[in-house]
Amino acid sequence: MEEEEQPRRGPHFVGKKDELIEAKRTLITVGGRDILVLHHQGVFYALDCYCYHSGGNLQNGDIEELGSRLCITCPKHKYKISLAEGEGMFKGTDTTVKPPVAKWYTKGVKQRVHAVTETNGDVYITLSDDRCYIESDYYQGEVGKERRAKA
Ligand code: FES
Repeated sequence: MEEEEQPRRGPHFVGKKDELIEAKRTLITVGGRDILVLHHQGVFYALDCYCYHSGGNLQNGDIEELGSRLCITCPKHKYKISLAEGEGMFKGTDTTVKPPVAKWYTKGVKQRVHAVTETNGDVYITLSDDRCYIESDYYQGEVGKERRAKA
């Protein structure tokens, strides 16, 4: 349990680049945290595996571009989350233009994202060290729940 509270800092090996590309989506656990590593359109992304809204598993979520951001759709209630930033996205109406148009807006960062690096064909993730509570923390064990209680 100590490891869960204090995951080792620095890069954690995820796998070989070729294998991860072939798999497209890989679930790994680092320091008690379940993380989805995915490869899409030539780029690796890593984010908490469970949706900030109600803990839905993002592993099989569809990916689409919304307002120039690649987003994953949570299979549970269809919330949209930007892959690179972890922002919750919602559709609103821009009334500053005539006629008003539908547009995608951000709710801010809701899902914790992690850095992905590659060295000589090996892929690593470095856990986000942002100490602020981020809503997806809640679904990552007791440490996340305690963080919310203190936030
Ligand atoms: Fe993801 Fe509700 S749990 S949208």
